Amino acid sequence: MLKNLFKLWRRNEPKLPETANEEVLLKVIDPARLPKHIAIIMDGNGRWANQRGMPRAYGHRAGVESLRDIVKLCSELKIQYLTCYAFSTENWKRPPKEIEALMSLLVEYLNKEIDELCANNVRVNAIGRTEEFPYDVQKTLNMAINKSKNNKGLVLNLALNYGGRTELVEAIKLLGRDIKEGQLSPEAIDENVVQRYLYTSNFPDPDLLIRPSGDFRISNFLLWQLAYTEFWLTPVLWPDFRRIHLLQALVDYQCRERRFGGLKET
Ligand code: FPP
Repeated sequence: MLKNLFKLWRRNEPKLPETANEEVLLKVIDPARLPKHIAIIMDGNGRWANQRGMPRAYGHRAGVESLRDIVKLCSELKIQYLTCYAFSTENWKRPPKEIEALMSLLVEYLNKEIDELCANNVRVNAIGRTEEFPYDVQKTLNMAINKSKNNKGLVLNLALNYGGRTELVEAIKLLGRDIKEGQLSPEAIDENVVQRYLYTSNFPDPDLLIRPSGDFRISNFLLWQLAYTEFWLTPVLWPDFRRIHLLQALVDYQCRERRFGGLKET
């Protein structure tokens, strides 16, 4: 009954019913049909800061609070993988001051949060060319990865110096090398083989991609992996994104029919 109402809301209403607070949404969500893997483009920090007449770094700091909230909720809901786009290969084009602020926030976040993450059984992982990050950032990242490596709960996968095209280029280079060395024949290449050469070789593809801030772009994120991912877009800026928004996304996700190019099951 409640689910039907939500289906109606999805088709006709721009806003969820006002009574749909966290408690109601949690009742509607079917724990058996949650996405295994959620990916998030944490966008809008700059605009959020701008609206307040503050420097962009202020928005990034506020964005960390959202990340904290969402990691906690994903962990509570027993989501298996959460991939968050924290720094792209294109973000080096930003002013050095902003890049520095992002690096220090990452270090601060990992140092401050690692014990709590471990207490919640969260395993930290990173994808991207992190070897190009300053040494202290790499050191802190490795500390967090090592400290949490035996945790069996949520995998918090941080996309850092990540670019979908770079990932594909690197995969193709490795494939080429293995062919040259006689370890792989070109005829043996199929989708599963390509998948094995990606940064995300050990992860399932995301079931749900969330992009806050009202932009409708992929921004070079998980280009291969998002082939059949469900998108959920919201105008809410990332620093304002809270548990309620993730719950709304999950209700919406559960109202969708995923056909992967096939037909609806009868
Ligand atoms: C995009 O917003 C966001 C980023 C480039 C960085 C995301 C970083 C955080 C949420 C905080 C730091 C992360 C960790 C893991 C500690 P934007 O700056 O492009 O916003 P705009 O589009 O409004 O300008």
